[in-house]
Amino acid sequence: MNIHTKAVHVGDRKKLPTAVPSTVPIFTASSFSYDEMADLDKVFGGELDGYCYSRYDTPTTHALEEQVNALEDGAGALATSSGMSALQVALQVALTDRRRSVLAASAIYGATMRLLNSLLEPMGVDINYVDICDEEAVAAALAEHKPGCVLMESLSNPLLRVGPIDRIAAMARESGAVLIVDSTFATPLLMQPLALGAGLVVHSLTKFLAGHGDVLGGIVVSNEEHLPVLRAIGKTSGPGLGPFEAYLSMRGVKTFPLRMERQCANACKVAQWLASHPAVERVYYPADPKHDDAATITRLLAGKPHGAMVSFDLKDATRDSVFAFMDRLKLIVRATTLGDVHTLALYPAMSSHRDLAPKQRHRLGIGDGLIRLSIGIEAPEDIIGDLEQAL
Ligand SMILES: Cc1ncc(COP(=O)(O)O)c(C=O)c1O
Repeated sequence: MNIHTKAVHVGDRKKLPTAVPSTVPIFTASSFSYDEMADLDKVFGGELDGYCYSRYDTPTTHALEEQVNALEDGAGALATSSGMSALQVALQVALTDRRRSVLAASAIYGATMRLLNSLLEPMGVDINYVDICDEEAVAAALAEHKPGCVLMESLSNPLLRVGPIDRIAAMARESGAVLIVDSTFATPLLMQPLALGAGLVVHSLTKFLAGHGDVLGGIVVSNEEHLPVLRAIGKTSGPGLGPFEAYLSMRGVKTFPLRMERQCANACKVAQWLASHPAVERVYYPADPKHDDAATITRLLAGKPHGAMVSFDLKDATRDSVFAFMDRLKLIVRATTLGDVHTLALYPAMSSHRDLAPKQRHRLGIGDGLIRLSIGIEAPEDIIGDLEQAL
């Protein structure tokens, strides 16, 4: 064989000996070959399980999808390149054969609002918002707008509101809408929205599931009804997660329940400590018996941890005094993300909800003194010690 031929063929396309690798390798191949054309034909036609082209699926990404789908008890999943792309795909799935109208919770991540207002609305999708914790308001909005889809977060960003997902799901179904739940903050350790009646669950894998701050990804988990459309969108437009990111995510998910249990226990301690600090005006944490949604929380999170996110208002704060406090943090990382193994602090008015006009932000309860913490796996006394020296 000529050197040019050897260079491209030798060593490739080897069948593994009978041994099975104990973890899923990173399959980077963009296509897959079969000994016989008839087998490739069957894979294309869905009669034989297998892979043919990586826009459709890769073995590494598929393994991650199976893993997260199992945690959510779903019918199937599609891993995507970011949490936002997962939301976009989920919305497309929901609206494919329904009225082009979305009823979204007003307490929602800023970029999700941007996705709705700046990308979907100009394409003719009707967008309306409602207080998702007010069942009467939701019923009225469903009757008025007749949306094809209702969108909410299981624990809202950043005020940790908890809507009655099961009741919203029932109301949505009755009016012909699909409920999509972004469960990035709650994670499957706290809640499984499909079991509560949602049609689609979305996660930013970037956060608690992957958990180490080293990968961007998202995933849509579907019930039986929406799976064919989800798969068709995945195959046709190719929003899928690449194998490197899928590998990292899968590796992270293996320790997710362990990390999350520790993070939630730490968050509980931090929330209690903050509540007794004289410089703190108000703490937002779902285990607080005085939480605005305490009745729903008791019902939906009975016996479960209450999450690893804690938000709080600094007393008499201005943007400058919040910046000064955050600059004094030595251990807690100032960064625009959440769910990592280390504790993170974020100023929603400057980052996650930056695009909202100050009036709208204040109307949503996101004041100039609001700080959001994502609690990590450190020793709780070290997290509290850092907050104490900075407050
Ligand atoms: C609740 C929620 N959903 C979705 C996203 C988007 O995730 P990603 O940054 O992976 O696109 C975020 C990001 O912070 C988020 O907080």
